[in-house]
Amino acid sequence: MKNKIVKSLSIILASALLLAACGKAEVESVLSETTVSSVADAIEEVVEPAAEESDGSALEEAKKIYLDKDLPVSERVEALLSVMTLEEKAYQCVQGEQANVTVEDVKRTGIGSVLSGGGSAPSYGNLPEHWQKRVNELKAAALETRLGIPLLYGIDAVHGNNNIYGATVFPHNIGLGAANDPELMEEIAHVVAREVRAVGVQYSFAPCLANPQNERWGRTYEGFSENTADVAKLAGAFVAALQGGVKDDEYMPADAIIACAKHFIGEGYTAEGENQGDVKMSAAEFDELLAMGILDPYKACVDSNVLTVMPSYNSIDGLKCHENKHLLTDVLKEQLGFKGMVISDYNAIGQCKGTYDEEVANCMNAGVDMFMEAQEWDRCAKTIIKLVEAGEISEERLDDAVTRILRVKFMSNMFDEEVGSAHENELIGEFGSAENREVARCAVRESLVLLKNGNVNGKLAMEKIKEATNITVCGTGAFDIGRQCGGWTISWEGKSGNITIGTPIVQGIYDEVKEYAKVSHSARGELDAESDVIVTVVGENPYSESGGDVKANGLKPISGDVKLLETIEEQIAANGNDPLKVLIVIAGRPIDINDYVDKYDAVVMAFLPGTEGEGIADVLFGDYDFTGTLPMTWVKDFSKVNEKHSLPESEILFPYGFGLNKAGNSLTRE
Ligand code: GLC
Repeated sequence: MKNKIVKSLSIILASALLLAACGKAEVESVLSETTVSSVADAIEEVVEPAAEESDGSALEEAKKIYLDKDLPVSERVEALLSVMTLEEKAYQCVQGEQANVTVEDVKRTGIGSVLSGGGSAPSYGNLPEHWQKRVNELKAAALETRLGIPLLYGIDAVHGNNNIYGATVFPHNIGLGAANDPELMEEIAHVVAREVRAVGVQYSFAPCLANPQNERWGRTYEGFSENTADVAKLAGAFVAALQGGVKDDEYMPADAIIACAKHFIGEGYTAEGENQGDVKMSAAEFDELLAMGILDPYKACVDSNVLTVMPSYNSIDGLKCHENKHLLTDVLKEQLGFKGMVISDYNAIGQCKGTYDEEVANCMNAGVDMFMEAQEWDRCAKTIIKLVEAGEISEERLDDAVTRILRVKFMSNMFDEEVGSAHENELIGEFGSAENREVARCAVRESLVLLKNGNVNGKLAMEKIKEATNITVCGTGAFDIGRQCGGWTISWEGKSGNITIGTPIVQGIYDEVKEYAKVSHSARGELDAESDVIVTVVGENPYSESGGDVKANGLKPISGDVKLLETIEEQIAANGNDPLKVLIVIAGRPIDINDYVDKYDAVVMAFLPGTEGEGIADVLFGDYDFTGTLPMTWVKDFSKVNEKHSLPESEILFPYGFGLNKAGNSLTRE
């Protein structure tokens, strides 16, 4: 209404000028031709078409630029920004959870982005075609808005497109840190990007750049290594490949996706390893830590043109990262030159201080550009509008945020791709394919770390194992896809059981040796007295985030596996034989196996291998050798894990970088 009044007044002024210029008759003839009863109506009539026409012409002019894929990204961003209203800008800055966003919401508000939180499958089902249907109906709705700004859809594809049944699920980052192979990271990234694009999703909240210092932290397995140089190398390679090598202000390949370097910053350093906890350092001390190396992974990702960064829930000396302007703006955007979009973590601004208005204002002014407000996304947009109108958030800051968001959308081809493209349907054909699983199987092989290769009657265990004729594989973990995948698989926290398509560890062993050896599986450790090889699989149950936070004495195999280990010992004693004993650990971090290292001839750390469990048999019984080395220091006494980096060597069971090969040689970690 305000616009119309302004335009009516301008028309009256224009008519008066016209009257003065060409006489009353001409003006009346113009007005009389509009078949209206009064001058006011005439003005209204004249205003409407004129207003529409001026809006229309400006919009049409802008569209000619921002919809022209042959023009540079920066020109298209500028043209689009110039015709956006305050409301349209504010709604671009919010991301809602798909369970809380309808197709009508998208049409009504032009919301910038939607996410599926961990395990948040569409109501249609959890197969690729169900996701394609859900994602594309929301994307299509966005194109029906006034400006047709495409909708960004984000998921946590943190070790494959891991929410969806049948996806290729890779080892979690801690295992890839043991593999320590940048070329492998590139291969993994290409498979992940294609299995994500296949369902219409353009964006993954990955990789996590944590360098975990304390395995009591429930997100240890999401980090590649305790060593920041490893993280920089692996994450930089992964981001570059995931985004198709996109260069600044250019367009990425059709089967690449947007990456997210997370969580910025210091999450692996919280006191007691507490998830979302506090790093007990002053800002000045933390700046020194940044300079000592924990900023390097982010520098590597910025150098790889990472398009988004997610702040961390943790705080530094009590100040939450989400409202830390020094970190988000001074360090990330200015010092590192990050030109992409900062997206808040899931409802994370709610952990910041003050009222909701203060949380939004403080976080946006600190440098947050898009707000992952899963349920409160509409409220958040309205709050941004209110705060800009009140001057609490400057128009410049809002325009900077929207510029960053639009830049990400243009560079990822969102304005130029057709929704539900034929390309997507091609990609869906290779979803979870044998070829993609081979990449994951290779990753499993490279992620294994041989911690002990003992001497068995004059032979090394890994030499002796070739003589196997009767193998008993023990433990529920040997036949449990859910346990070998860990958290962030099908559901947010993951769960044990036959949760998706994959190869259990015991299946892989059977397939490898069936020509020459008998294989049996015993969940509880009942042994065939004729067994000459016992393979015992122990470790953790799946968990994610704070659900995985434990006290030091919680870093051990689950109780059922402890019972299994005891049963096996009793059985062997009762049988009076002396089979070769191999222990395989499936866990997201070092755990206390000290009591068993001496009792077993060989010990393998398999971390969380994902769906392709046969990769373990490839090395244990096949021709592949062990190449993995520990990405984390492994203490003897887990009650001292809080201070493990200040312990003497005598207190370390396996040092960072430790690993053996089948010949018993110590491997060297680059
Ligand atoms: C979670 C995690 C973050 C994830 C986000 C969206 O709480 O902290 O890593 O990307 O929410 O699921």
